[in-house]
Amino acid sequence: MEQLLQQIESYRAEISAAKADTTTAVEEFRIKYLGTKGLVKNIMGEMRNVPNERKKEFGQVLNDFKLFVEEKYESLKAATAGSENNEGDGTDWSLPGDPITVGTRHPLNIVRNQIVSIFKRLGFAVAEGPEIEDDWHNFGAMNLPEDHPARDMQDTFYINQNPSWLLRTHTSSVQARVMETQKPPIRVICPGRVYRNETISARAHCFFHQVEGLYIDENVSFADLKQTLYFFVQEMFGNDVKVRFRPSYFPFTEPSAEMDISCLICKGDGCNICKHTGWVEILGSGMVHPNVLENFGIDSNKYTGFAFGMGVERITQLKYQVNDLRLYSQNDLRFLKQFTGVI
Ligand code: DAH
Repeated sequence: MEQLLQQIESYRAEISAAKADTTTAVEEFRIKYLGTKGLVKNIMGEMRNVPNERKKEFGQVLNDFKLFVEEKYESLKAATAGSENNEGDGTDWSLPGDPITVGTRHPLNIVRNQIVSIFKRLGFAVAEGPEIEDDWHNFGAMNLPEDHPARDMQDTFYINQNPSWLLRTHTSSVQARVMETQKPPIRVICPGRVYRNETISARAHCFFHQVEGLYIDENVSFADLKQTLYFFVQEMFGNDVKVRFRPSYFPFTEPSAEMDISCLICKGDGCNICKHTGWVEILGSGMVHPNVLENFGIDSNKYTGFAFGMGVERITQLKYQVNDLRLYSQNDLRFLKQFTGVI
């Protein structure tokens, strides 16, 4: 009997040192110790030979041993659970993966979104129109009749198949589209791409982007125009930037004004960007010309409105100090990656 007890002790030592790294090894352990022909079953069979007066004592020892083996089996099983894939090719599935390169937002889109979100907070809705326009929406409706000299202000691409179609030269055409379908009060912001027949250089391109604004209601004044644009500039560039309005001329507004801001690059001291004046023009604006309102059946005695149009490239240039317009369309990753993470 003492011999059997000793044997059990040595099995305990052997089992506690047992290792199994794979599910196959764990299964082998189970068969060897806990299977129908396994060690535990075998030792249980020894009860037959134990004298009656020691059966109770031995029953206890054997039960403890069986529990001990079962616990060991459970712990080996838990340690290898889910690691089946580790078998075979030696791949370590816990290693970090290769980074996935995600795209970046284009700087013009970043700035366009910022402009739009500022005006949205003032209650402006977004409106869009087609890039291929007809003469009426781009010019006629905006108070530039066919023989109007101001048409030469913008060199236009016409469509060969139909010379009354053209690539819109400004987003003011969307004003026409909106007034055609909506009644005042109207409060819209219209971002979009525009085209002009220009020789491509660092300072000019044959396509660029504008954001147009239009506000028509009763009693809209030039003071509303100024306050709205002051607010925009402060939100966009901060409180330190200075603003000035200069009288100007646009056929679709009367009176008209261009707005300059103090140069952000040289802080007004004078540099290449501001042509050494300390000021940079960022938009054209004015009170909507009565002819434009009447073109869409809006009573110009009852309603007034203001409009403005700004260049997204110019604002992006000032925000990010981009000196060559061509960078925006060359898709050079060294340029685009500098805007990683900017939303
Ligand atoms: N359409 C003008 C341009 O392309 C910009 C502009 C000026 C738009 C005055 C306006 C405005 O709505 O009122 O240069």
